[in-house]
Amino acid sequence: MSTILLLNGPNLNLLGTREPALYGSTTLADVQALCERVCQTAGHSLEAFQSNHEGALIDHIHSAGQRFKSGELLGVVFNPGAYTHTSVALFDAITGVAPMPLMEVHISNVHAREAFRHHSYVSPAAAGVIIGLGVEGYTVAVQALLRRAPNAPR
Ligand code: DQA
Repeated sequence: MSTILLLNGPNLNLLGTREPALYGSTTLADVQALCERVCQTAGHSLEAFQSNHEGALIDHIHSAGQRFKSGELLGVVFNPGAYTHTSVALFDAITGVAPMPLMEVHISNVHAREAFRHHSYVSPAAAGVIIGLGVEGYTVAVQALLRRAPNAPR
């Protein structure tokens, strides 16, 4: 049994009440429960962490890298929130723990929004990018990581 880390960045703790027209009415706790169910069905577990602080997210990526190396962690599903568009430090953290796979998720279609959301510092370091599928994107990302598990059914 391995673990997937679900990481969420700034303001995603407000999911469910924050701009519901854009992000929907599902809460972060609901998203976590949904992803946990997908992991458990495949015989794996999920851990979740949300922070509004860049350094805390970086620390979690570093420790995820160590746990990936030891075979304990399959990878990370990460919605970096607005840090997507600003953070060279997150890019460096993810490349620093290569080849740990990290799936970048955005609930909204950032390319259909303001120009400042069109660029991601995270995408070039990510194993995959899922954009605009709503909260369902998280489970798609979890499934993509599960398929990379050493004993996953092909
Ligand atoms: C987001 C998109 C970002 O531009 C925004 O800052 C967020 C959420 C999304 O999931 O669509 O906080 O990452």
